Amino acid sequence: MLLKNARIINPETNLDKISDIRTEEDKIKEVGENLQPEGEEVIDLTGKTVTPGLVDMHCHLREPGFNAKETIKTGILAAINGGYTAICPMANTNPVVDNPSTLIYVINRAKEVSDIGFYPICAVTKGLGNEKIVNVSELLDNGAIAFSDDGRPIENMRLLREALKYINSHNAIIISHSEDSTLAFGGCINEGKVSEKLGLKGIPSLTESLAIARELETVRSIDGRYHFAHVSTKRSVELIRRAKQEGLNVTAETAPHYFSLTQDDIKDYDAKYKVNPPLRTNEDKEAIIEGLKDGTIDVIATDHAPHTVQEKLMPIQNAPMGIAGFETSLGLTLTNLVHTGKLTLIEAIEKLSYAPSCILNLSNQGKIEPGAQANLTVMDLNEEWTVKASEFKSKCRISPFDGMKLKGKVKMTIIKGKIYNIG
Ligand code: DOR
Repeated sequence: MLLKNARIINPETNLDKISDIRTEEDKIKEVGENLQPEGEEVIDLTGKTVTPGLVDMHCHLREPGFNAKETIKTGILAAINGGYTAICPMANTNPVVDNPSTLIYVINRAKEVSDIGFYPICAVTKGLGNEKIVNVSELLDNGAIAFSDDGRPIENMRLLREALKYINSHNAIIISHSEDSTLAFGGCINEGKVSEKLGLKGIPSLTESLAIARELETVRSIDGRYHFAHVSTKRSVELIRRAKQEGLNVTAETAPHYFSLTQDDIKDYDAKYKVNPPLRTNEDKEAIIEGLKDGTIDVIATDHAPHTVQEKLMPIQNAPMGIAGFETSLGLTLTNLVHTGKLTLIEAIEKLSYAPSCILNLSNQGKIEPGAQANLTVMDLNEEWTVKASEFKSKCRISPFDGMKLKGKVKMTIIKGKIYNIG
């Protein structure tokens, strides 16, 4: 097909230009101005923007084991609805993705649903048990893209050090869920004035920064390569910034809720806002945005963590942690970072697509150039819309963003040259 007259954004080459894209089967054939039709379908995208397909390096799809929360099918449909052409599901399912047969099962389930780039992250420790390290080469041979016990921290630094040496020696990374569980214990929302007002047990920001500090020292001691998931505090940003300045081979991500919401949004005891790490203070939020701007935070990942509506309607103390993120991620990024002038569009798309593709070596994702796989997201930067959680493709039809007005909407997700119209 021939995509005409779109604003094309390609962070890899710093391209931001009105141009045309010709695709042939699953590949991009040509990118340039005034491309003439050669008998193929022509789609006029005047006023629209085309970017490399969005890549989510951190999500939870819940299958196997927790299919009432989400299945691989509903998760993938939600991801496509959010503009994603590649996703990396975490391993905290039941059974845990710590063995080849479960890994092969999830990959095959995904193939039945669509051609989306599907790159599972396997557990670091067997059963997320913090004791025995998984068989890394066997999992890499069967399609693992990285390793993480996300949902639970690895707090035994001897174990983490051994796992890092072993996993890095296979040219793969560990993605860290940085949390000191003794400090987090029993906490529900951020420790501070809101937790005090509501009488809820708080999770101090030290929970995260303390874990990051000791993990950084561990990474330093072996010259390892490491990625920090869901960074949420000012001090975490400062620690990672300094480590990068000192030359440590680390990368970091945050999620849209950490630059879109704060603890002050938690009115009453509404568990829609309950997430781990918790929503922090305005100062933390500003530091996250600063970290995105200066490159301390490389990636915006959704941390799509669906739960059933019934679970999220439970009293906040008992409800599970997590926010459905696929279908609001782009809109929140454009509304809160790009339209506010905090990031340029190229910077935002780099964090939503190119950077995660580079970190995970996803050669079929993150760029628009001849020969690349035709994985593209078409968006209208200025379309205003209202989030309606009841219309999510995700099973998790409850969201702290429900009813919020956003500016910037996915119009099409193109996966291997096939168009999914989002509308
Ligand atoms: O809020 C969260 N939910 N944070 C995590 O780290 C895990 C995730 C989940 O699996 O529900």
